[in-house]
Amino acid sequence: MKRRQFVLHTTLGAAAGAAAALPLGVSAQAAAPVKVGLILSMTGPFASTGKQIEAGARLYQAEHGDTVAGRKVELLVRDDASTPDQSRRIAQEFVVNDKVAVMGGFVLTPLALAVGPVATQSRTPTIVMSAGTSSVIDASPYFIRCSFTLPQNTIGVAEWAPKNGIRSVVTLVSDYGPGIDAETAFRDRFTLNGGTVKELLRVPVRNPDFAPFLQRVRDAQPDAVFVFLPAGVGTTFMKQFVERGLDKAGIRLIATGDVTEDDILNDMGDVALGVVTSHHYSAAHPSTANQKFVAAFKKANAGKRPNYMAVAGYDGMRILYTALQRTKGQTGDALLEAMKGQTFESPRGPVLIDAQTRDIVQNVYIRRVARQDGELHNVEFEVLKSVKDPGRRK
Ligand code: PHB
Repeated sequence: MKRRQFVLHTTLGAAAGAAAALPLGVSAQAAAPVKVGLILSMTGPFASTGKQIEAGARLYQAEHGDTVAGRKVELLVRDDASTPDQSRRIAQEFVVNDKVAVMGGFVLTPLALAVGPVATQSRTPTIVMSAGTSSVIDASPYFIRCSFTLPQNTIGVAEWAPKNGIRSVVTLVSDYGPGIDAETAFRDRFTLNGGTVKELLRVPVRNPDFAPFLQRVRDAQPDAVFVFLPAGVGTTFMKQFVERGLDKAGIRLIATGDVTEDDILNDMGDVALGVVTSHHYSAAHPSTANQKFVAAFKKANAGKRPNYMAVAGYDGMRILYTALQRTKGQTGDALLEAMKGQTFESPRGPVLIDAQTRDIVQNVYIRRVARQDGELHNVEFEVLKSVKDPGRRK
């Protein structure tokens, strides 16, 4: 391991030196493609998420062309199978062999964390398109995040609940970074508003069996259960919630929007009706920009509905294109700087990449699952404007 790190270090050092020695504005340099290495989970339980991000990124290119500031933008997509060692290895290959100018992707928090040191050492601007634990952004000064954080997406429902007859809650979260962040943010905000948290339950990330946890929720008899599970897992949970009779026992379900995400929501059936969540994106967001985005995404993807992962892939490419225009095709530190401070209208609503934190500031919506035009949707009914990640310690 030590030797590999050394080899990586020296190779990267030499590459950075060579790049710095090139004069700016040389036409051969200007014509070279800008390679973008996306590291995504394309197989296994989180494959749907990786595919959504890739489809979002490709849609942006299809709409805006593949050349910016005279340079072709070339997407390379590799599957890390949700394994941090693989993410790190792919990142090393991307910077050493493929000489990518930018990296992006990372479905799960541990995958982004594994790539942080490679981004820093190789000085590669890297766009985090999912990984929502607050601290992910601290893993490298070369990270910018265009997705969300869990505290950002949790406080909305933690404020809504006590105003709407929910006085006691059991929390149930996936037992890793984003789940712990959601649990902490919910507990702090809900108790501040007078609520009581009866129990804090954590379920395994991989292949969770919810039954024993749901039994404990039932036994505790709270007004509601608050849930965070990463994208793609919500259907199994919802099925077991009903099978265990929690709805009949009068226990309400509140969650972050990860649980009722748009890719799977319509297949959940009526059991999902009435579930209240807070989140930064709904495919039913009623803006013209979003309606255009949803229609184009469906057209390009055999009728599939985009979820918040697709939006992050789409917006990530937009941030890159705008930055390349600003630097006139220059990459490296200049490109990173040009990514910071961008504001634009995303399909989710207005967003800002905070120049200081490198993190996204965005609206968070309170939504209720309802039938609209014959399909299940997260219908937004309240908004918290321009929410900065409340979970960061520094
Ligand atoms: C994460 O691992 O940070 C993560 C993944 C999927 C989500 C939310 C958070 O929906």
